[in-house]
Amino acid sequence: MLLLCGIGLFLTTGQYTRLEPVHALSNKDLLFKEGSATFKGCFKRPDNVTLAFPVDAVIENISVDKCVNMCTEKEFTLAALTWEKCHCGFPTSLFTLHEREDDERCWLRCAEEDFENCGNNDYFIVYQTQVQDNRCMDRRFLPIHAEHLIALASFPGSGNTWTRHLIELATGVYTGSCYFDKALYIKGFIGEKDDWRSGETICVKTHENSRTMIQAFDSSILLIRNPYKALMSEFNRQYGGGHIGFAAEARWSGKDWPVFVKKNAPWWASHTQDWLKYGKKVHVVHYEDLKRDVFSHLKKMVLFLGLEVSEDRLLCMEGQKDGNFKRSGEKPEYDPYTAEMRANIDELIKTVDTELKKRNLTAVPEEYRPR
Ligand SMILES: *[C@@H]1O[C@H](CO)[C@@H](O)[C@H](O)[C@H]1NC(C)=O
Ligand SMILES: *[C@@H]1O[C@H](CO)[C@@H](O)[C@H](O)[C@H]1NC(C)=O
Ligand SMILES: *[C@@H]1O[C@H](CO)[C@@H](O)[C@H](O)[C@H]1NC(C)=O
Repeated sequence: MLLLCGIGLFLTTGQYTRLEPVHALSNKDLLFKEGSATFKGCFKRPDNVTLAFPVDAVIENISVDKCVNMCTEKEFTLAALTWEKCHCGFPTSLFTLHEREDDERCWLRCAEEDFENCGNNDYFIVYQTQVQDNRCMDRRFLPIHAEHLIALASFPGSGNTWTRHLIELATGVYTGSCYFDKALYIKGFIGEKDDWRSGETICVKTHENSRTMIQAFDSSILLIRNPYKALMSEFNRQYGGGHIGFAAEARWSGKDWPVFVKKNAPWWASHTQDWLKYGKKVHVVHYEDLKRDVFSHLKKMVLFLGLEVSEDRLLCMEGQKDGNFKRSGEKPEYDPYTAEMRANIDELIKTVDTELKKRNLTAVPEEYRPR
């Protein structure tokens, strides 16, 4: 039977050519780039410091830059400071960065800083350097073709690309797609070009929700996002600059937006309902929950995908979770929803919430449940 995967999609318009390829910086480009570390916070000293941080040195007149530069030169992603020592390492199960302490616990000022604290014997101040963590950079196609086809199903604008990025980091396996999006291929989503039914990718992106399409998959990760946000994000993609631009304000106040909402808001609800109804084995992930805690949600996804969990790999993923898919520039403050649109969308949210609860699945997150 010939089953075309991208045929039923009426939202995408294929405005992909405007995007420029993004070239990843190599470690060499990043070395010696001063003052570009990210502050991670104050953390309790690990039980075994030498095991958690393979390299350390006493630094006279210690400063954040001195320690960050040392760890960057030695190609570590973390620089941890105390009042006298600089420690370099990676996030591992010995030092996960999951339990950030109150900054005040790291009260000791660094010798050569006017404002920055450096920690003490019990608490470390930690920065993330610009060094790329290579523990989760490798990618491959599945060496043995999977018998089970797994969907990464979502309504458009729900963070599917970002989730694929996280899944690829966490598993080291390419994700596939029902569509061919050249911009994503250029960014390194090599599985984009693969036939969606090859069994060579770990899961396959799809926005479809026809019964036939859903039943073509043996299981699915169903990604759900707040419809208020998803609709705006997809509108931005269609009328703005592809995956990372914003639509001009005139578009929102004109005819396009109300027509778009009227047509697509009901689809947001039926998309979820159809996957719940026809999907053989559905693992629901709420985008908002995923944003709050990528580590535990990716851990569950990796298990659902039938792979072994590597804690170090997940921690590496967590350190690089942002990727290149954030819309840049000024986010419009403008609220484009009318009272009538809100009334409709709130009803749709309630319907989806009820369907999820009926199946004992995680209900929609508090923040978009209508009050
Ligand atoms: C830390 O781990 C190393 C390597 O396993 C070991 O040799 C050392 O004794 C440990 N130190 C402490 C304080 O447990
Ligand atoms: C540390 O600071 C002191 C006092 O400002 C200075 O005399 C000394 O040379 C500095 N040492 C280094 C290695 O920068
Ligand atoms: C629903 O989920 C809860 C908590 O995960 C579980 O304890 C309960 O047995 C489930 N009930 C059904 C009917 O599956």
